Amino acid sequence: MTGQYKVASLFSGCGGMDLGCVGGFEFLGKKYKKLPTKLVYAMDFDEPICNLYNSNFDHICNVQDINTLKSEEVPDHDILTGGFPCQSFSVVAQNPKRLGYKDSVKGKLFFEMCRILRDKQPEVFVAENVKGLLSANKGEAFPLVLQEFKNAGYHVTYKVLNASEYGVPQKRERVFIVGFRDKICFERFHFPKPTTKGHEVPISKILESNVDEKYFFSQKAVDGMLKSKNSKTMNKGRAQDVNSPCNTVGAHLAKVSLNSTDPVLMDNGRYRMFTPREVARIQSFPDSFELTGSRTTNYKALGNAVAPVMMWKVTQEIIKALSNNE
Ligand SMILES: C[S@@+](CC[C@H](N)C(=O)[O-])C[C@H]1O[C@@H](n2cnc3c(N)ncnc32)[C@H](O)[C@@H]1O
Repeated sequence: MTGQYKVASLFSGCGGMDLGCVGGFEFLGKKYKKLPTKLVYAMDFDEPICNLYNSNFDHICNVQDINTLKSEEVPDHDILTGGFPCQSFSVVAQNPKRLGYKDSVKGKLFFEMCRILRDKQPEVFVAENVKGLLSANKGEAFPLVLQEFKNAGYHVTYKVLNASEYGVPQKRERVFIVGFRDKICFERFHFPKPTTKGHEVPISKILESNVDEKYFFSQKAVDGMLKSKNSKTMNKGRAQDVNSPCNTVGAHLAKVSLNSTDPVLMDNGRYRMFTPREVARIQSFPDSFELTGSRTTNYKALGNAVAPVMMWKVTQEIIKALSNNE
């Protein structure tokens, strides 16, 4: 199969996965070329996050709850992507007998992605999730998740990829699950090889200068953190080493505090949080990605996103596997 692959995106967030999937952007002076893909559908149930998405793509991210999304509302496509929220997995493990799409598990988001897959049968799907998925429920959930994807008609493989080994200034380990309908394509697929292992991109490359005062923690917050009985074990505010990639950023950054485990920065002897633009860069979004909407929405959506550069590399390998199938 050759030509332009149509991509449908579920749980699209601000579009990290989507941007990586289509390419055509630049990050830290490196070009990630346009891939032979076209986004035909995107959805998320969080309206402010959809608005942020819409500022950055030509097509619209539909404000929709996946539970009410009918498969026929999703246009035909070749690749289905979804960074489904991980809340579903405990349920998978607790209900092994209920595996398969049943009304009793409706509302569990992972099953909703499988439902769309079953009904639409694209050539490929890519799902992304936290590494903890592998060990969820004492390791019982993950094999069931894989089985559910297999039952939808796919040859399935997975790998934990660390974004810092692929040119992203962040230690972000995520499991990528990729499934092909065609066995030959599946056998041809390989996860991308690390490109920056041992010479990771440090945070110092992405820091903004002249950061607004509102990003600095007050002396009261610093004193409170130092007094807290956890301050030693908590690594005193998790100030990051600017000569290394950042620890994982998450949606929680919207509520960052010095007493949490969220990464913060020591800037000229003062603690501060990362700015939304810095978080975008830590996630490998290009500076052309517009950060519209509230700061809270920016942090939440960016922290939840799939690093575009990481996704670009995975998609490139998927395209290779698909397009040799002549
Ligand atoms: C991990 S984030 C996805 C990030 C996205 N893949 C990216 O790269 O930017 C999961 C998204 O699922 C959305 N979500 C959660 N429950 C949903 C539901 N029932 N229907 C639709 N979207 C939902 C959240 O709003 C969130 O943006």
